[in-house]
Amino acid sequence: MYFLSLLSLLLLSFLPLTSSTKPILLSKSGGFHVSGKILTNPQNPNQTLHCDHGYLEYFIPSHPRLTSLLFWHSAHMQVFQNNWVGGPGFKDIFLRLNYPIFLFDAPRLGRANWACDPYYYLPFYWDQINFVGWQLGAQWPEFYKGVQFPTENKEAWNQATRSRYIEFDTHENLLLQSKTAAVAADEGKLGESIVLITNSVAGLRAQMSVVMQNKTNIKGIVAYESYGFVYPDNINVTEVKGGFGPVVVGVEEFKKLTRVKIQFVWGDNRDEEKDDWLIQCRKVVKLINMYGGNAEILHLAKEEGGFLRGSTHSPMADLDNQKVAGLLSEWLREKGMDGVYAQNQNLNIFEKVWDGEGPWYTGGLNFSNKVTRTALGVTSWGDGGSLGIRLYYGTPGNLIKEKAWDGSRGGWYDGGFSQPSIPALSVAAIPLDVLRVYLQNGTQNTAFTEFAWTNSGWTVGKAALPPA
Ligand SMILES: *[C@@H]1O[C@H](CO)[C@@H](O)[C@H](O)[C@H]1NC(C)=O
Ligand SMILES: *[C@@H]1O[C@H](CO)[C@@H](O)[C@H](O)[C@H]1NC(C)=O
Ligand SMILES: *[C@@H]1O[C@H](CO)[C@@H](O)[C@H](O)[C@H]1NC(C)=O
Ligand SMILES: *[C@@H]1O[C@H](CO)[C@@H](O)[C@H](O)[C@H]1NC(C)=O
Ligand SMILES: *[C@@H]1O[C@H](CO)[C@@H](O)[C@H](O)[C@H]1NC(C)=O
Repeated sequence: MYFLSLLSLLLLSFLPLTSSTKPILLSKSGGFHVSGKILTNPQNPNQTLHCDHGYLEYFIPSHPRLTSLLFWHSAHMQVFQNNWVGGPGFKDIFLRLNYPIFLFDAPRLGRANWACDPYYYLPFYWDQINFVGWQLGAQWPEFYKGVQFPTENKEAWNQATRSRYIEFDTHENLLLQSKTAAVAADEGKLGESIVLITNSVAGLRAQMSVVMQNKTNIKGIVAYESYGFVYPDNINVTEVKGGFGPVVVGVEEFKKLTRVKIQFVWGDNRDEEKDDWLIQCRKVVKLINMYGGNAEILHLAKEEGGFLRGSTHSPMADLDNQKVAGLLSEWLREKGMDGVYAQNQNLNIFEKVWDGEGPWYTGGLNFSNKVTRTALGVTSWGDGGSLGIRLYYGTPGNLIKEKAWDGSRGGWYDGGFSQPSIPALSVAAIPLDVLRVYLQNGTQNTAFTEFAWTNSGWTVGKAALPPA
């Protein structure tokens, strides 16, 4: 049964999403506050207020990848938690893929709503504005044809519009919120590789967080329907002091955006020529890349590689959000941010671990294999009580070898797997019912050969998959 089929290779490379019923195994969850001020009552120095902080709720898989995903919405966190019909949202989808997840409530919003400045709230008839703003239709109540929202489901609409909360789109809040995410990233509790995953106006704030960070922990932004952009000050763009930009910064500050990987994602039903957000987005992507950056646009419905029709303003909550998540998962893989194990300049292979408190630390595995850009593949299986990890790596003698970790044995040890391969190529492993390892051992030059573990030892798959 365990011959290497074309399907299993395709599954490995293009559909890394796991089933939506697989239990999620966490090592920790919780929350903490970051940054903020303390006001003292000028009339009574004994009275203070802690305010203007941000809040982070976290979920750490039992064996996390190295890159954390921070989900950020200016006024609608729910869109990251479930899709429009209550199915799995990005939070659960990416937890099942073992990414550490952080939900960010920026200052003055959600669970961080003690503001240091006064604000007021006046009820306003906002539901129909949401309908249009969320790209459900051009005008209430006429849905776009084929929109990825359950148009007949009254409860879905009820839930969607109730889950929004007030957002304060002032220039001051934009800077405060951006700064708070930058401080959180610099503090190190989110790891050394963070991708800010944003929706709507949080996209502009994330760009500013990159400009403001003093360390380099923020490694990427994936901004779904970013309302607002950051520009350098040498191209005659005038800053608008509101919550939606443009924000203008010095050229050197702007260049910080070239040091992270950026993808701007757009949904359907936008006019390529007239939509001001798309026009601005193309302009900013061009500028970032002109300075040597790595920014791109993914237009879900139109661009090359794009194929999803009817996406709304919040594609992560759409009925087809599994497909949208698949594209994000693929992007993380392409940009080298899906790793669990990494190699340092001294060619040591090591793991980074975070237990939910304090900084990340180097885990028990740390060995030198002396191969530049080594092949690395890993898989885990089991539950908390009997979790197993198998890491496959290349050696100078062009062997793929195994390191093993089992909860019960305490510590890493050398596994029995050892197979010749061609130099510095990939190795992949999956658990499923049988542990399988895929590598290129030179058969037909570049074919992939499958090795499967059964109780009696390693066996070889029936046929190697020849080069495409
Ligand atoms: C502040 O507290 C101190 C010590 O308890 C007290 O002596 C003082 O009267 C208080 N000030 C006010 C304005 O309540
Ligand atoms: C970065 O450093 C500058 C200079 O010390 C400081 O003003 C700024 O607040 C820092 N930014 C963050 C995000 O901490
Ligand atoms: C900016 O405006 C100035 C004055 O109007 C003009 O001389 C210059 O060429 C403009 N620069 C760009 C990059 O458009
Ligand atoms: C791993 O071990 C080496 C010494 O063998 C040490 O220099 C290095 O700092 C350790 N950590 C990492 C992350 O490589
Ligand atoms: C690759 O591995 C298979 C299974 O062990 C073996 O039959 C084959 O000869 C190997 N190919 C090369 C080129 O080493």
